[in-house]
Amino acid sequence: MHFQNFFFLQLIVALYADETNMIRDYFVFKDVTRVAGFSCGEIENDYQVVKLLNDVGIMVSINHFTSTIDVSRFLRTIYWNLGIFLDLRCSVADENIMKIFYETSTHYMYDHLHQWLILGNNMSHTVQLLNDSVFSIITDITIAISNNSDYFLYDVYNHCKSCGGLINITELGTWTGQDGLQITLQTDKFSRRWDYHKMRIKVAGLTTGRRKDQSLVEYLREQSIMYTDNWSKFGFAIMEHVKDLFNFTFELIELDHWEKNDSVGPLISGLHQGKYHLGYFPSILTIERLNRADVILQVWPIRTCFIFLTKPSLKVDMNIISRPFSRNVWYVIFLLIIIIIFALWIILKLETHVANSDYGITVLITVAALCQQGLPFISTQFSSRVAFLHTLIFGLLVYNYYSAAIVSSRLNVPLDKMNDSLYSLVKSKMKLAAYKDIYFNYLLRYPADDVQYFAKYWNTIPEDKRFFSLEDGVKGISNLRFAYHAEPTNVYPLIDRSFDKEMICQLTEVHLFRPGSIGLWSAQRSPFQEITKIGLIRIYTSGIRKREVLRWSYRKPYCNKDKHYVSSVTIHEMIPIILVLCFGIVSSAVICFMENVVFHIMHKKQQQTKESENRLKKRNQKNIVPQIKTIVKTKKLLTIKRNIIFKK
Ligand SMILES: *[C@@H]1O[C@H](CO)[C@@H](O)[C@H](O)[C@H]1NC(C)=O
Ligand SMILES: *[C@@H]1O[C@H](CO)[C@@H](O)[C@H](O)[C@H]1NC(C)=O
Ligand SMILES: *[C@@H]1O[C@H](CO)[C@@H](O)[C@H](O)[C@H]1NC(C)=O
Ligand SMILES: *[C@@H]1O[C@H](CO)[C@@H](O)[C@H](O)[C@H]1NC(C)=O
Ligand SMILES: *[C@@H]1O[C@H](CO)[C@@H](O)[C@H](O)[C@H]1NC(C)=O
Ligand SMILES: *[C@@H]1O[C@H](CO)[C@@H](O)[C@H](O)[C@H]1NC(C)=O
Ligand SMILES: *[C@@H]1O[C@H](CO)[C@@H](O)[C@H](O)[C@H]1NC(C)=O
Ligand SMILES: *[C@@H]1O[C@H](CO)[C@@H](O)[C@H](O)[C@H]1NC(C)=O
Repeated sequence: MHFQNFFFLQLIVALYADETNMIRDYFVFKDVTRVAGFSCGEIENDYQVVKLLNDVGIMVSINHFTSTIDVSRFLRTIYWNLGIFLDLRCSVADENIMKIFYETSTHYMYDHLHQWLILGNNMSHTVQLLNDSVFSIITDITIAISNNSDYFLYDVYNHCKSCGGLINITELGTWTGQDGLQITLQTDKFSRRWDYHKMRIKVAGLTTGRRKDQSLVEYLREQSIMYTDNWSKFGFAIMEHVKDLFNFTFELIELDHWEKNDSVGPLISGLHQGKYHLGYFPSILTIERLNRADVILQVWPIRTCFIFLTKPSLKVDMNIISRPFSRNVWYVIFLLIIIIIFALWIILKLETHVANSDYGITVLITVAALCQQGLPFISTQFSSRVAFLHTLIFGLLVYNYYSAAIVSSRLNVPLDKMNDSLYSLVKSKMKLAAYKDIYFNYLLRYPADDVQYFAKYWNTIPEDKRFFSLEDGVKGISNLRFAYHAEPTNVYPLIDRSFDKEMICQLTEVHLFRPGSIGLWSAQRSPFQEITKIGLIRIYTSGIRKREVLRWSYRKPYCNKDKHYVSSVTIHEMIPIILVLCFGIVSSAVICFMENVVFHIMHKKQQQTKESENRLKKRNQKNIVPQIKTIVKTKKLLTIKRNIIFKK
């Protein structure tokens, strides 16, 4: 009995051997590690497939057509290639097979990761069963048609059924029992399928400035110095390069307004609804949009900012005097001066013949040397001369550094420009206005803190004063304290024409949308996503994108600082110096006054004391003199007496 069973098994194995060998050879050629399959339901056959594939290291799971398994879960793969085989030769109703194809196409299972092998008896019948609605250039399907024990393999794809593409069946190779798998179509998918044969692809974009008598293509290709729609024109130029690479044609769609209730913009919502395949209008990336459409590549650099003029500050900057040296240099200089004064004083003290060797004269000498002035100083001694010479040289060097620093700071007068912060802009209480870009309100919805803070402030501005045309905006900028928001490349041409060099150097920018790049978009799972990605990357790396960016954007007005070389010193720069002088005058006046007052008081006091002394003296004299007189008198009397006596 056992032997009989074994014999039957061998017989069946021999019957199915060709088919399973073919499946194994094909998936080994495809280099997949996992395979899922639909079989006719014969256990022995399934067993044979599993065994053979496991032997070459491929994991297999097998299902029957009629089972109620969830096909989308069965064939789901995110990271790894999955081989799928399907035997249509068993007695299964066409509906069941079509149901599988239907479900797999609703889940887009015809991409790089799903590698199909379909076995059939009859080509036309097999193709009828296929649902090619989501086939694209990357579809990987091989149909194997059996003829006795041999197989003919065909490569099947469709560029885009909804654009009128037809299914393309190309011979891929053969499989025979003796020779195994023979592949004749060795080239890779893209190099043999790149030609779209002028297929029409729907692309849409936003334009606002087209004249009614002009065709859209003409308008998008037109190079004008007008500032409108350069985004669309750039995107279209880039897309045209992709179009030439893959030999398709455009069906252009123009969008010109943005519904109030549309949060993602007409382009993205149209892509989401499947109205068109691609967009030629670069758009900002947001999570909300990424849920509705796919970015192909970020291609267009963009930023938007408030532009205004920063006039040189009228505030008097006292730092102008101390700025040439940093603080520690000042400390060192002061320290050295003190040491010099001390040293000179000692030396002068030791030189006995110098008449004025007190501290005050030493300070005066040193300061005079540092200020490059004449000196009240003559010395014949070597020691003091050497000390003095060093002081002079030190003074000369310090003086030169100081004046050099002043010259250089005058050459690059730093304008006190506002930092790039919306908080500072709001705080400055400047008058604000914006160009009514189609996306302006969209920018205000950006969730960053500073943008939200700004948006609140913006909403307090009366509705009719918010938006200015570009011409009025630029005119406004030339007035002081007016900031105008626009895309810089829109404003630059006008600024270049109407502003003088000095004003151009004073331009200050505060970004609302920080510099970034915006991308071209395609519909989610669009059949053109792969080729546009490849095309755009080629355009990017070959430098065409950069050239197109330069062509469709305007360079920043050049601030030529050379003019400052001849600018004269203004009174504002002089004020600190004049203040120093005034301070000197005032303080000397005060000192003079004080000296005089003190002198006066002292003088008075002296006089008073003198007077009082005098008075005292006088009083004393009065008291003393009569005595003297009496003495004198007595003396006189005595002499007289004596004389009388002698005469007697
Ligand atoms: C193919 O699948 C799509 C869904 O992806 C479906 O809309 C369409 O009707 C199917 N076509 C056939 C012929 O079954
Ligand atoms: C393929 O099958 C169709 C019907 O399903 C039949 O009309 C046709 O003759 C078959 N062709 C071949 C080569 O067997
Ligand atoms: C099938 O093979 C036989 C020879 O084995 C050949 O004559 C016949 O043309 C083949 N049929 C097809 C459709 O290739
Ligand atoms: C069909 O595909 C092959 C390559 O797979 C290609 O050479 C041929 O031009 C395509 N034919 C059509 C009509 O697209
Ligand atoms: C593009 O497709 C058209 C139509 O099929 C064809 O005539 C033309 O030769 C193709 N262009 C290139 C460059 O292959
Ligand atoms: C916006 O409103 C219009 C009618 O005013 C409506 O037709 C459209 O479907 C709405 N769009 C969205 C995205 O809600
Ligand atoms: C900009 O300057 C203000 C003060 O003027 C300061 O508070 C703020 O932090 C600065 N912001 C940036 C980004 O430098
Ligand atoms: C728009 O493109 C044209 C054409 O190259 C260019 O002359 C113009 O300066 C651009 N305008 C802006 C605002 O970038």
